[in-house]
Amino acid sequence: MTTFPLERFAQIETPFYYYDTQLLKQTLNQVVEQKNRYGFHVHYAVKANANQGLLKLIREAGLGIDCVSGPEVQCAIDNGFSPQSIVFAGVGKADWEIRLALEAGIRCFNVESLPEVQIINEIAGSLNKRATVALRINPNVDAHTHQYITTGLEENKFGIGLTEVESVVAEILKLNNIELKGMHFHIGSQITDMGAFQVLCMRINELQKWFETNHIKIEIVNVGGGLGIDYEHPDQHAIPTFEEYFSVFHRFLELRDGQEVHFELGRSVVAQCGSLITKVLYVKEGRKKKFAIVDAGMNDLIRPALYHAYHKIENITSDAPTEQYDVVGPVCESSDCFGQSVVLPQTKRGDLIAIRSAGAYGEIMASHYNLRKFAPSYFSE
Ligand code: LLP
Repeated sequence: MTTFPLERFAQIETPFYYYDTQLLKQTLNQVVEQKNRYGFHVHYAVKANANQGLLKLIREAGLGIDCVSGPEVQCAIDNGFSPQSIVFAGVGKADWEIRLALEAGIRCFNVESLPEVQIINEIAGSLNKRATVALRINPNVDAHTHQYITTGLEENKFGIGLTEVESVVAEILKLNNIELKGMHFHIGSQITDMGAFQVLCMRINELQKWFETNHIKIEIVNVGGGLGIDYEHPDQHAIPTFEEYFSVFHRFLELRDGQEVHFELGRSVVAQCGSLITKVLYVKEGRKKKFAIVDAGMNDLIRPALYHAYHKIENITSDAPTEQYDVVGPVCESSDCFGQSVVLPQTKRGDLIAIRSAGAYGEIMASHYNLRKFAPSYFSE
């Protein structure tokens, strides 16, 4: 359970991100313990949070990195991750990003279209290198998650459709500087229904048979990320059930000899360890409701505005009887609202508010909108 050091907070200018590094370490221990039971490989999806303090602990735990841009590949290298632990996905890799990844010697490109593989082949040739690729296949599995973060349905832009696999593979096999070694999938994010992962395994099993019949050796089965967290109960469920999650893949994937299973976990690793700490500027009595106006805005944490995402909101400096507030930021947008009709202890100017489960897709998605500054980060240790 995350406890907030209020005396320390009193000295720090708000808003800021606060990371419970003890919790991150415990979470990483769980990931490592559970993945090791089955010999699985985990690449942390750095898009969720690239804070250097967190990356250090993630590297020390021995995870690899999943990137979706050249700057993310560079960030992984700058933070000491071995190039061979890096995988690189994304529908729109620019030439310079491909070159950077090839020169760094990353483990695998997760490729999303034939034109992309052809360009990787060209650039690899010009550098006298061979690129290892895993073909991202869109398995048409409904992840039952928010429409903006579902990726594995036919209508999404990601991956190659099931019906195109045959023709795309035939073309890839003609390319001299490409080694097709794997299949890659990612069906969406914040998935709490393990049944969706089970269906993914079934699709992978069918594809395995097809590759086998066609005598194409698949060494890497990368199932992506997507494991969800409990936004409602950040303290009761501070660590996701990695045991249950990995065991689904262990039970349902029909692997061939020598195949490695790779995962790209982002949110489930870092979400619960982070909170956005903000101060109440004003309490405004509207005609219909009360507003707690805080000094953090949608530029600091955009998830509620962008996805109508729920984050638990707590007043950590008051234990007065409760009232209902809309907790809103100072940005000039009606969507700059962290929560409506939030039940909080009676709240006044100067109180500190914690917006919980903000460790993933929080700090990293911050912007300068309204020319606001980036919120700094602090660690429990
Ligand atoms: N692998 C690929 C190819 C991905 O696209 C993603 C996330 C991941 C792995 C990591 O997924 P995770 O384990 O974190 O679910 N900004 C949104 C989430 C976008 C996820 C994008 N892709 C949010 O705040 O909910």
